[in-house]
Amino acid sequence: MTYTLTTPLYYVNDKPHLGSAYTTLACDALARFQRLKGEEVLFITGCDEHGQKIQRTAEAAGLTPQAHCDGVSAQYRELWDRWQISNNRLIRTTDPRHRQVVQQFFARVEASGDIVEGRQQGWYCVACEEFKDDPHEAQDPECPIHRKPLEWRDELNLFFRLSRYQEQIEALISQPGFIQPVSRRREVENFVKQGLRDFSISRINLPWGIPVPGHEGHTFYVWFDALLGYITALLEEGDAADLDTAISRGWPASVHVIGKDILRFHAVYWPAMLLSAGLSLPAKVFGHGFLTREGQKMGKSLGNVLDPADLLERCGRDAVRWYLLRDIPFGEDGDFQQQRFSDLVNNDLANTIGNLLNRTSSMARRWFDEAVPPADQARTSTHPLAQAAAQAKDASLAALENLEFRSAAEAALQLAISANGYLNDQAPWSLMKKEGTREQVANDLYAVLEAARLVALLMAPLLPDLSGRMLHQLGQPIPDSNATAQVSSAWLEQLSWGGLQSGAPLPEPSPVMARLELEDPL
Ligand code: MSP
Repeated sequence: MTYTLTTPLYYVNDKPHLGSAYTTLACDALARFQRLKGEEVLFITGCDEHGQKIQRTAEAAGLTPQAHCDGVSAQYRELWDRWQISNNRLIRTTDPRHRQVVQQFFARVEASGDIVEGRQQGWYCVACEEFKDDPHEAQDPECPIHRKPLEWRDELNLFFRLSRYQEQIEALISQPGFIQPVSRRREVENFVKQGLRDFSISRINLPWGIPVPGHEGHTFYVWFDALLGYITALLEEGDAADLDTAISRGWPASVHVIGKDILRFHAVYWPAMLLSAGLSLPAKVFGHGFLTREGQKMGKSLGNVLDPADLLERCGRDAVRWYLLRDIPFGEDGDFQQQRFSDLVNNDLANTIGNLLNRTSSMARRWFDEAVPPADQARTSTHPLAQAAAQAKDASLAALENLEFRSAAEAALQLAISANGYLNDQAPWSLMKKEGTREQVANDLYAVLEAARLVALLMAPLLPDLSGRMLHQLGQPIPDSNATAQVSSAWLEQLSWGGLQSGAPLPEPSPVMARLELEDPL
């Protein structure tokens, strides 16, 4: 079965910021992990291009909506390329095939008797593209997320009969594992408990959208259209625009990874729409937290947005990936602090991991003919570093399976810390000066090099670049976790202790991770 995972489809109202890069980086780590395990992966990302927000942004910029969307979606594409994101698809909801998939899906929902006409009155946030729960008599209500005034709407729309799915949605969200992390489940349960109300799925007088077949003047509500992007994205290049074909290419999704602000759409509305169309449901919805900066939510109005392209330019892929994946528990809010950022990168990557490899490899080369030293007792599974490595492997695999990137990073780092500790305790540089200790030194250096090899492999899904440089330094093959990788579980096999061959040449060492020296604020 295909492992299909998705990022949200990002609004193209503005260029990408670090919030969107954050979700995409995490999904990239997950996609790489699944590929390394030998799964066939379909990693989907994309752009959400219809609706009032986009239409207004384009108008303000004096562009047609299509020209505006072409420009911003190209920026997303470039950014993901520069970050070497291993997505298999980048779907744009203005793709002509998408229009047909949405219309076919709608026909099924309508045939199920789930479309009715109704009057939609309420307070709307254009930035969220969502009706809010504020009472009708509210005076000048604001969106709590965007701090912008809500707009009063009173329209005749088409409604989806969400209320018919109350019991099925209750059963679905009570399934352990459907909504993750568990802390987010309660929020959705409370919402569902209040009783699900039908929601409008069309707009009138909004030309920038997909026309609703058979309902003159209506275009689809942007969320109805966007969620279906996950399905259109499954189509392969030569495929016709056909819903069943798309489904056969990798539905249901194994996980939708999203920000906590759009959990309701993914855990309630979307499954009900799928049930109505007779399609199977995604296995998991993971709602991560928000990134803040020095304690404040990152946002344009506060002027504290971090530009992911800029950050990449100044700090490099490894540094930013490490900070975001290693410091912030995925699921909780996380604060970007510059000092902590450079401290972690320098301590963990440059010192603990980089120096470990560099100094061990230098000693091995100097004393053992530029090659991996001979070893016997260091190869056994009872060696203390073999045991530390086995623990790190178990912890890391379990963590990645559950999208606990921080624990996975910590497991790899812990192995490097143990290896450094072992090296310092054994002090081969002193032993080497004594008589009859050559064998011990050879075993010690072997064990530490072997631990470094496993650190590098455990880093492969998280920091593929650094992992590759470490493995190169060890003269080892680099596992392929890219979008085009052949399905293979070689990585899992390589994760066993004792893989380094004594006598294999060790390339001349050069630092695998440069220190981050940030003089100016980011
Ligand atoms: N277009 C919809 C999603 C449709 S999915 C079928 C949308 N787009 S968005 O661009 O506004 O947001 C995409 C994701 O980025 C959201 O999940 C949101 O939580 C996330 N982030 C936006 N700002 C963020 C931070 N500051 N931190 C972390 N993620 C944040 O919603």
